[in-house]
Formats: sequence, structure tokens, C-alpha cells
Amino acid sequence: MKFFIDTAELGEIEDLAATGLLDGVTTNPSLIHKAGGDFLETIERICQIVAGPVSAEVTATEAETMIEEGQRLAGIAPNVAVKVPLTWDGLKACRALSQDGTMVNVTLCFSPAQALLAAKAGATFISPFVGRLDDIGQDGMGLIEEIVTIYANYAGTLETEILVASIRDPIHLVEAAKLGADVATVPPGVLRKLAQHPLTDKGLAAFLDDWKKTGQSILS
Ligand code: E4P
Repeated sequence: MKFFIDTAELGEIEDLAATGLLDGVTTNPSLIHKAGGDFLETIERICQIVAGPVSAEVTATEAETMIEEGQRLAGIAPNVAVKVPLTWDGLKACRALSQDGTMVNVTLCFSPAQALLAAKAGATFISPFVGRLDDIGQDGMGLIEEIVTIYANYAGTLETEILVASIRDPIHLVEAAKLGADVATVPPGVLRKLAQHPLTDKGLAAFLDDWKKTGQSILS
């Protein structure tokens, strides 16, 4: 499973990219607003930090302008994935941009039918939002399971990767991995939590305590 980070905060991206475990970045207009700074410059800088796909979202709602915006964003760096919303205009823009060789991430997916359409439109990634479905009492992870099943039925023809978005905790990520989703985009705080376990901390403290009592040093 590939790990993308869901933020536009450059400091966080630099920090987590240094682990070597980061495969890409996703942003959206809300994350750009939260981070502050110029949108195009921010995307350019992120693309310098991370070699994998960096999602940058169009803000037009009409296909022709979405395509123009997408071309502008794709021109920033070869690893930009243009993000378009799952609307008919977004699907048209997806088709046009992907036919030109641009990576496209179709976002705001909340149903299996939408995911099927995005794949037919040539999306590189489909972004189903699990957390927002859970928030309204629907089964976010159930949607991932449905998309995995549908895409697997057409494995030879549909090549779209399932990018699980709106992840709120490590359990979401683990469940998505169990279902075989291709990518998870995770907020920085959740990514850090993946490595944490109280028994790891407790066990390490005990090992170090006993090691100290031996009076030895590995490097001397
Ligand atoms: C990523 O591509 C999505 O925009 C993001 O995961 C949405 O997350 P949220 O529902 O926590 O805003």
C-alpha cells in the first residue's frame, strides 16, 4: 500500500518525507487555505520535496475551465496529479486531461457508481472519502470494499488506483489495507500514530534499563 500525506504544510511534508516512507501528497482547497501561502508556489515546493504524485485541485466548476486550470497545474511539475471533483464536468475534464497524459485524481467520491464512472473516464486515482461517510452514519469502509470488488471484476480494463481519503485514524488505514486499497492518504497526525504502541514504549524502556545495568556499550 502506498502512503500519501494529506496536507499542504511544507514543514510536515519535509519532516515525513525524511522517513523515506512517503509515496505522495494530496492537497485540497481547504488544506491550502489552512496552510496559507500561494497555491502554485506551494505545489511547486511540495513537488520538489516528494517525487511521487502531488494532488492539486482545480477550482472551476465547468469542464473547459477545469481543463485549462488542470493544464496550468500539470505544468508545474511532472509529478502533479490534477484533482477534479466527481461531477459530469469533472469527468469530462478527467477524460481530456488523462488522454493528454496528465495524472488525474477524481475526488469527492461517495458511491460505487461514481467510482466506476471515474475509472471509465481514465482517472489515475479515485478518492472515496471514508470519514465523511462515517460522519453521516454511512459505512465508509463498505464503500471501499464495493469499489475494490468492482474494479477487480474489470482488472484488465480499469487501471484506476483506489486512493482512500478522509482517513481519521489508524484503524481506517489498516481496514483499507486489508481490503487491498492501493493508496491511503493520511493526515500527518494519523501517520505518526501508526508507529505508536504503549507496549513498544514500555518494552523499550525495560530493555534500555537492563542494558544500562550491564555497563556495556556497543560502540566502544
Ligand atoms: C484528500 O484528498 C481529501 O481531500 C481529504 O482526505 C479529505 O479529508 P477530510 O474529510 O478529513 O476533510
